[in-house]
Amino acid sequence: MREELKAHLEFFGELGIDGVRLEPEWRRRAEPTEPTERTAPSEPIGVYESPAAALAAIRDDLGADCSRCKLHTLGRTQVVFGVGNPNADLMFVGEAPGADEDIQGEPFVGRAGQLLTKIIEAIGLKREDVYIANVIKCRPPGNRNPEPDEVEQCEPFLFRQIDTVKPKVIVALGKFAAQCLLRTNDPITRIRGREFKYRAAILIPTYHPAYLLRTPSAKREVWEDMKRVRAILSDTT
Ligand code: URA
Repeated sequence: MREELKAHLEFFGELGIDGVRLEPEWRRRAEPTEPTERTAPSEPIGVYESPAAALAAIRDDLGADCSRCKLHTLGRTQVVFGVGNPNADLMFVGEAPGADEDIQGEPFVGRAGQLLTKIIEAIGLKREDVYIANVIKCRPPGNRNPEPDEVEQCEPFLFRQIDTVKPKVIVALGKFAAQCLLRTNDPITRIRGREFKYRAAILIPTYHPAYLLRTPSAKREVWEDMKRVRAILSDTT
């Protein structure tokens, strides 16, 4: 037990959490703001026997050799669809696969992904409990930002994933995913710390784990966001 506690404290220390704040403002919940959701429709889910079957159908529709945008000619190894529990209450949305994801075919498996896994575990969940996807499913060359035509072709598949999994909470990882889902140009520093109604979920923007690797001091804010996620999930379950 003591070993377990020690491991937890070390882990929280690694995430940048070095104490407990008792002031009331640290416990107060942000009021949900007006919906600003991206209104692009998702195609009908259809009647499938389970969310897993619906996700399999979406993956089929997308196709292993998707050529809807130019990324299929720009060096991608494979389409990186999404991974996790088809019935998850919590979904993470990132930007696009990086080099490791492109090789392994799974989102968030590189260094940033390993940090994401720790963040998930910090709120008492396992990676397999949540669903993880990206706005676009193919790696942009040199990890450049996805371009508007690529997003336009690919995001309907993300919307279908969201409408199938029906998470209670969506965490948008980083500026790109948050701005894209919320249809805003507001900087991440302005939208993080707030919550948004998004489709049937509450969307919480937070910093991207790759940013945390470069800026460990931002882990404290991510921890605040994740505590909020944990509170919402335990309120509604
Ligand atoms: N960054 C992302 O946004 N997504 C991944 O899958 C990996 C890194």
